[in-house]
Amino acid sequence: MMRVSEAPPLSDGADAAAIERAVVVLQGGGLVAFPTETVYGLGGLALDPRALASIFAAKGRPVNHPLIAHVLDVHGARALAAAWSPLATRLASAFWPGPLTLVVPRAAHVPLALTGGGDSVAVRAPSHPVARALLAALGAPLAAPSANRYQTLSPTTAAHVAASLGGRVAMILDGGACAAGIESTVVDVRGEVPVVLRPGALDLPTLAAVVAEVTEAPRADVDDHAPHASPGLDRRHYAPRARLVIAASRAVALEEAAALAERGEPVGLVLREPLADGGAELPRTLATRALGADPRGYAHRLFAALHELDARGVVRIIVEPVPSSAEWRAIADRLDRAGAAG
Ligand code: TXA
Ligand code: MG
Repeated sequence: MMRVSEAPPLSDGADAAAIERAVVVLQGGGLVAFPTETVYGLGGLALDPRALASIFAAKGRPVNHPLIAHVLDVHGARALAAAWSPLATRLASAFWPGPLTLVVPRAAHVPLALTGGGDSVAVRAPSHPVARALLAALGAPLAAPSANRYQTLSPTTAAHVAASLGGRVAMILDGGACAAGIESTVVDVRGEVPVVLRPGALDLPTLAAVVAEVTEAPRADVDDHAPHASPGLDRRHYAPRARLVIAASRAVALEEAAALAERGEPVGLVLREPLADGGAELPRTLATRALGADPRGYAHRLFAALHELDARGVVRIIVEPVPSSAEWRAIADRLDRAGAAG
C-alpha cells in the first residue's frame, strides 16, 4: 500500500541556516518548496533531469507541461536561452525581478524535461527575498511550478503547501503570505510582438506601457490532452474541491447563496465589497468572504479565501462577477478555470 508520509515542519525562510540546508537538499536532487512574490514554488534543479522527474511525480502533473526556470537575473536567464532579443531585454529591465515569465528559445544544454519536449524555455527572476537568497546560495537555476498537486488551488502560504504536497517535499521554506497571490504573467517574446500566454500578477496595462503592442494568445481550452501553446491554459485548473459558480450579478450571487444556505447546504459566498450590514440577516451555513474592490488586493486574498472555504467543507462557492477590464483579466481567468467542470 502506498503511504504518503507527513509534511516536513516549516523552516523559516529568513534563516541563513535553513537556506544552507535547502541548498544541500537541492544539490542532492531533492525538492524544496519556497515562497515567491506570486505563489509558492516547488523547486528542484532546473538542469537535473532526476530532479525534474521528481517535480512531475510530486505534483502528479503530465510530463509534457513545461516548467518555469527561476533565475537571479538576466545573466542567469541568458545562460538558458539560445537567443535573447531586444524585446526580452526591454521587458526584463522593466519588470525583473518580478512576476513576469519570458518564453525564449531554449539553449541546447537545457533538458527537454524542463521544456515539455519543446524548443522554448520559460524564465523568470522572482523578487521575493527568500527566493533570491535561495537562488544566490545555490548558484544554479531552479525549476519551480506552483507547489500544489496538479489542477488544485495554488498555494499562497507555507501551510497551503504542507496541506497539498505533504511528505512529497523534503523541505518547506516559510516566507509568509505571498504579496501578489496569483501566478506570474507568461509572455512569449520570440516574435516581434509579445504574446501573453497566461494573464497573471503583472497586469496588461502595466505591461502595455513599455511595449508598442501586446497580443493575447487564444485559450486552448478544448482538449486537455492536445499540445498547448502554454499548458497553464488547461480548462480546469486552480480549482477548489467545492463546486465554484460565477453568478450573473452581485444581487443574484446573494440570492442564490442565501437560498442554498436556507436549505442547510454549507455554502461559500465570494464578494468584492463587503455586505453593508455585515451579513447579519444571512443564514449561519453561509460563509462570506469580501476580497476587495481593488484587483491587487482581491488577487492577494483570492486563493487563500478559496482554501479557507474548502477547509470549512462548503460544497458550493458562489462568486460575484468581477469587472471585464484589463486590470481584472488574470482574476477573471482564474475564477473561470476554478469553475470549469472537472
Ligand atoms: O508565478 C509563477 O509563475 C509560479 C511561481 C512559483 O514562480 N510558477 C508557476 O508555475 O505558476 P506553473 O508550472 O504552475 O505554471 C507555469 C506555466 C505553465 O503552465 C505554462 O503555461 C507556462 O508557464 N510555460 C512554462 N514553460 C513554457 C514554455 N516553454 N512555453 C510556453 N509556456 C510555458
Ligand atoms: Mg500551477
